[in-house]
Amino acid sequence: MKPTLMIAAALAAGLAGLAHADAPAPTPAPDVVAGRQAAFSLSNVVFGGMRPVVEAGGDVKSLTRGARVLARWARAMPGLFPEGSNLGRTTASPAVWSDRPGFEAAAARYAEAATRLAELADANDKAGFAAQYKVVGDTCGACHKAYRLPDQH
Ligand code: HEC
Repeated sequence: MKPTLMIAAALAAGLAGLAHADAPAPTPAPDVVAGRQAAFSLSNVVFGGMRPVVEAGGDVKSLTRGARVLARWARAMPGLFPEGSNLGRTTASPAVWSDRPGFEAAAARYAEAATRLAELADANDKAGFAAQYKVVGDTCGACHKAYRLPDQH
């Protein structure tokens, strides 16, 4: 190969590499925003539905499944905030993406708190459940403060 051809080939290869590096990440389906908002709303119904039982001092055993589902949702949640899904009518703060480790840690604290809530429900520990219910609620509030737009609480 002539030197000029070699340079041209190297340039072409280099440009191809660059083009590859610059290829945009796949655009998330807009539905991911509607999906996570629906899941948050459902979780709010499940979580809020526990409050009257706590306030009435009722048996909490039947709340075990609900608490487990909250923990499951908490573990799945970060996956519904893929890169590039700061779209449309979202109330998510850009910090979800700029401070990913912090966001994931907040979701993990929620998952741990809800897992503990499920254990206390399963043991029908009413006092323990009531105290832990507040702990779980605090994990919602803490994440919203840091990772949801300020006027959305
Ligand atoms: C790790 C962070 C995090 C935790 C923990 C968290 N949330 Fe959220 N929540 C968000 C973000 C971010 C949004 C905005 C989602 C969007 O609009 O794209 C949101 C939105 C919501 C919404 C609005 C949904 C809609 O229809 O737009 C509700 C209701 C909600 N959360 C309730 C809760 C409750 C209740 C808890 C705890 C039991 C909780 N969240 C825990 C981050 C969190």
